[in-house]
Amino acid sequence: MYRILEKRVVGPNVTLMKIDAPYVARKAEAGQFIILRVNEGGERIPLTVADYDRENGTVTIIFQEVGKTTKMLGGLNEGESILDFTGPLGKPTHYQEGIKKAAVIGGGLGTAIAYPQVKKLRSLGVEVDAIIGFRNSSLIFLKDEIRAAGASLHIATEDGSEGLKGFVTEVLKKLIDQGAKYDIAIAIGPLVMMKAVSEMTKKLGIDTIVSMNPIMVDGTGMCGGCRVTVGGQVKFACVDGPDFDGHQVDFDEAIRRQGIYRTEEKLSTEKHECKLGGLGNA
Ligand SMILES: Cc1cc2nc3c(=O)[nH]c(=O)nc-3n(C[C@H](O)[C@H](O)[C@H](O)COP(=O)(O)OP(=O)(O)OC[C@H]3O[C@@H](n4cnc5c(N)ncnc54)[C@H](O)[C@@H]3O)c2cc1C
Ligand code: FES
Repeated sequence: MYRILEKRVVGPNVTLMKIDAPYVARKAEAGQFIILRVNEGGERIPLTVADYDRENGTVTIIFQEVGKTTKMLGGLNEGESILDFTGPLGKPTHYQEGIKKAAVIGGGLGTAIAYPQVKKLRSLGVEVDAIIGFRNSSLIFLKDEIRAAGASLHIATEDGSEGLKGFVTEVLKKLIDQGAKYDIAIAIGPLVMMKAVSEMTKKLGIDTIVSMNPIMVDGTGMCGGCRVTVGGQVKFACVDGPDFDGHQVDFDEAIRRQGIYRTEEKLSTEKHECKLGGLGNA
């Protein structure tokens, strides 16, 4: 069992948890993830390692309550435990040598996954422009944490309630037009957003890493559920990624595959909320 040492709400339906998981903390790196199961019979879900403390043996996760399992997880409190917490899984992010300036772009929930990248790059002495995008200002989270990590923060909201009105790509373009010279861009968020960023940076010749988030089941390369096509080759996001060269990813295929289980996910959430309540097992 893995005890929840700290629980903090960091945004609307977004929670940070510090978990007592010394074996994961010992090896975790930015870009990797864990797979957890809240209780016996629960589904396995992947969550990014948002932070780790090797000395104290803790791993931090940040998650948004979007469906059955994340809601069950959000219902747990400090002192309670998670049944399984497996990792670190996936490959750590590989940054090329000598990068001086990076644009880290987080779209919505992707901001949670982008945050450890900001921290890692800052710890390597890289200058970071963090660009985060949300539908409106009430949904924004991790602003203070990103600033505290030493990044220069730029916000885009679709309704203009905070920062620039529009999408993260428009902020990125504005910064580049103003003279920002990026050695690398890291884009994490909805597939359409990562696709748009990758198309823009390809034209500008800026190396770009995206973090793919397909459905994962085993997380060990066995089931094939997380298949993505990169540079014309089949890759498994759980073992070959989740980070890939954004200029090589077949985003259209990934977008088509993403909606495959939408009906089942809706039914699972409804069943959890309407009939089971609390920590359902079904
Ligand atoms: C490598 C990786 C890292 C991730 N990191 C984070 C993170 O740090 N914070 C966070 O909030 N979310 C993260 N996610 C997404 C998270 O796994 C899903 O939100 C979660 O699985 C939803 O489960 P649910 O039962 O609550 O919702 P459901 O209703 O089952 O699903 C809601 C949506 O989540 C996605 N999803 C569902 N099941 C899975 C699954 N087994 N694997 C992947 N995606 C799934 C689907 O797109 C689905 O439409 C990550 C996903 C991947 C692949
Ligand atoms: S999750 Fe099964 S192969 Fe990647």
